[in-house]
Amino acid sequence: MAKSIQRRTFLEFLGKGALGLSVTPTLLATKFHTKVNARAHLPFVKGIKPSAKDDLKLAKGLNYHILSSWGDAINKEDTFGFNNDFTAFIPLDDQNPDDGLLWVNHEYVDPIFVSGYDGSEPKTKEQVEKEQYSVGGSILRIKKKKNGKWEVVKNDPMNRRISGQTPIPFNWKEPIAGKKEAIGTLGNCSGGVTPWGTILTCEENYDQFYGERDFRTGEKKKGSYDLEWSKYYDYPPEHYGWVVEVDPRTGEAQKHIALGRCAHECATIKELDDGRLVVYTGDDSVDQCLYKFISSKPGSLSEGTLYVANTNLGRWVSLKYEDSEVLQKLFKDQTDVLVQLRKAARVLGGSPLDRPEDIEIDPVNGNVLVALTNNTRKKNYFGSIMKLEETNNDHAALTFKSEVYLAGGIETGFASPDNMAFDLAGNLWFTSDMSGSLMHKEPYAPLKNNGLFFVPREGEQAGQVIQMASAPLDAELTGPWFAPDGKTLFLSVQHPGENSPSVQQLTSHWPKGGESTPLPSVVAIQGDLLEALQKQ
Ligand code: FEO
Ligand code: CA
Ligand code: CA
Repeated sequence: MAKSIQRRTFLEFLGKGALGLSVTPTLLATKFHTKVNARAHLPFVKGIKPSAKDDLKLAKGLNYHILSSWGDAINKEDTFGFNNDFTAFIPLDDQNPDDGLLWVNHEYVDPIFVSGYDGSEPKTKEQVEKEQYSVGGSILRIKKKKNGKWEVVKNDPMNRRISGQTPIPFNWKEPIAGKKEAIGTLGNCSGGVTPWGTILTCEENYDQFYGERDFRTGEKKKGSYDLEWSKYYDYPPEHYGWVVEVDPRTGEAQKHIALGRCAHECATIKELDDGRLVVYTGDDSVDQCLYKFISSKPGSLSEGTLYVANTNLGRWVSLKYEDSEVLQKLFKDQTDVLVQLRKAARVLGGSPLDRPEDIEIDPVNGNVLVALTNNTRKKNYFGSIMKLEETNNDHAALTFKSEVYLAGGIETGFASPDNMAFDLAGNLWFTSDMSGSLMHKEPYAPLKNNGLFFVPREGEQAGQVIQMASAPLDAELTGPWFAPDGKTLFLSVQHPGENSPSVQQLTSHWPKGGESTPLPSVVAIQGDLLEALQKQ
């Protein structure tokens, strides 16, 4: 995609995203060392206790306002999608960091809310179309008002939807399942931002929508999907499970085949000194793998090599077809390897991990943090955050060391880490993702609702895990993203009331209360505490 934003300008105003993207680790260490030391005298941060309330509860010194909720009109034709996840703020110009575009992922649908489908009658085509429209992403022009609160600029010409109905071309030399473009993007979970200011939105549980192919028979696997979209739109499963790049200024999108096809949680980019890119991405499924792509040309997301992590040996193993006799025996060509990525990774010795979710690069030391949310198959319910240290801190290295960085558990006060973000002072923030069906049950019961957690980098509380927010009932907090000045944290509240058996029996009424329908929403968190944590 065209580098439509001046790179320098973009980096100056990106805020959090810029830290890990384009500055060398040495420069980062120098740049942020002063800031980090200055934090050592911060006041004691008092967190909150786990809560079972149907509310977005925040630590003292924080407040929130809602930016957009499911169903809100964003222009004359379009409405905000369902189950918001990843967010990223892209400032529009270098004069005003308080005016920009907010990208929001819309991951999946809950039919009882989105289409009114409750299983009592066959799903109609109209219902499928409503559901298709509710996933993908939203692009919202947002501005900070004089009172310091953010608001969506209604009907701004840049407000638009990308959905499960948007035609999106493949960025690849060959067609995918006979076509040069897919219809729609879906399962949009987490993501990333490129050094040139475009969004990477990742198609995670794609098989829920159009199923998955059994590549031995060529047929769709039976029972591998439950939304019944294929009843009316029989699109090939191979068209989903990719990393999708979207230019938020134009809505132009493309699917990047070179990054492989799996249940991508996120795509986290590091730009090397010579302009080549390293992209880390995890396959969020039980016992699936961690990948990294190293481009062979500056700024390219199509030319380069994809590697899978072998964490036992500390090696990145190449998935390049022409270099591997094993791949040549089992697959037709490189495209086939990328389409059937899980199988290729397994035969080459990729390490099965405990559901690799979000990935962030530590802005101070260049370490790669990978949230390993849990592995119920292995009775690992609480998960951990893994630290991966590339050899010589070179993100293009093919060897690394890895270890547990933070372990979930009742003692540490969190379970199932998912999305992460570093603030401007290099403190780590992360969210938890205990599944709706297991929340409030053993072994998770003492942790109550999902939350947002804070890990101070320096000072007397360094390394402690402090709960800063508690989600409404059944909800998960996702997509934390800091505004350029670090004084606003954009955050998604996803799937409140997900366990509701019907719209007559709702388990959550957030955010409007009373008997209202729960609304997935993006909020802006601000307050004295956040300001104090970012102060020079
Ligand atoms: Fe959609 Fe891996 O969470
Ligand atoms: Ca996630
Ligand atoms: Ca998750």
